[in-house]
Amino acid sequence: MHERRIRAEAIPEHVAIIMDGNGRWAERQGLDRIQGHRAGIESVRAVVRAAHELGVRVLTLYAFSTENWSRPKGEVDALMGLLEHYLEAEIEELDRNGIRLRAMGRLERLPDAARAKLESAIERTRDNTEMTVLFALSYGGRTEIADAARKLARDVEQGKLDPDSIDEKTFAAALYEPELPDPDLLIRTGGEARVSNFLLWQIAYTELHVTEVMWPEFRKSHLVDAIYAFQQRERRYGLTSEQVREGGAGKRS
Ligand code: FPP
Repeated sequence: MHERRIRAEAIPEHVAIIMDGNGRWAERQGLDRIQGHRAGIESVRAVVRAAHELGVRVLTLYAFSTENWSRPKGEVDALMGLLEHYLEAEIEELDRNGIRLRAMGRLERLPDAARAKLESAIERTRDNTEMTVLFALSYGGRTEIADAARKLARDVEQGKLDPDSIDEKTFAAALYEPELPDPDLLIRTGGEARVSNFLLWQIAYTELHVTEVMWPEFRKSHLVDAIYAFQQRERRYGLTSEQVREGGAGKRS
């Protein structure tokens, strides 16, 4: 699919990706799973660069779920090592390109060394405004919602919040990254049509794109395919096609 086919004025502002298929890709090549994750890092690099070139404003990558802590220790350790390696190798280029790095999830569970590198990368890039790359790490969508509920309950307990004033807006403001817009497009590689506990609240109106391509093989051309498919869809947000064509009422704030 050629990049020329996508419309520059309708690039999704926020793209989120479930990077699946590292293990299967590795097994098919006769490699071990960890080599699949290592190859996956190359895809992360390529896709961050591509998203930046295409004008995507926010790229959220599901790098490690709360459930992933239950994988064999060797695999968990390798993934944490890869995270450190990625940050060390990429921080210079990210910063140079004006990219702000963020992370969300139960980050306190990360090993100290990985967490320290992550915090320093976040700090170093905090004022960059070209694009935001958000890593979901030790992340679970239900945990995020439960954490938000706890936060609001505490505010109520302390008399800072009236329970009757809690609506969608108040709730969204208690989530991990309240300043970022909801994803317009969610891509899942590896062929499974599942959400796997990712951004449960935020994807209410997100367009989903599942591709058979395994994450280690995912490159700019596949991102362009996904954006092209996204641009063919009509987002109605619960309205009729006619209402959307008439404009105005269509865009949810
Ligand atoms: C899913 O593949 C992928 C993950 C569990 C982690 C994604 C991680 C990376 C792309 C590399 C790490 C990147 C950073 C920045 C830390 P899978 O193992 O579930 O594949 P399978 O479904 O084929 O088994």
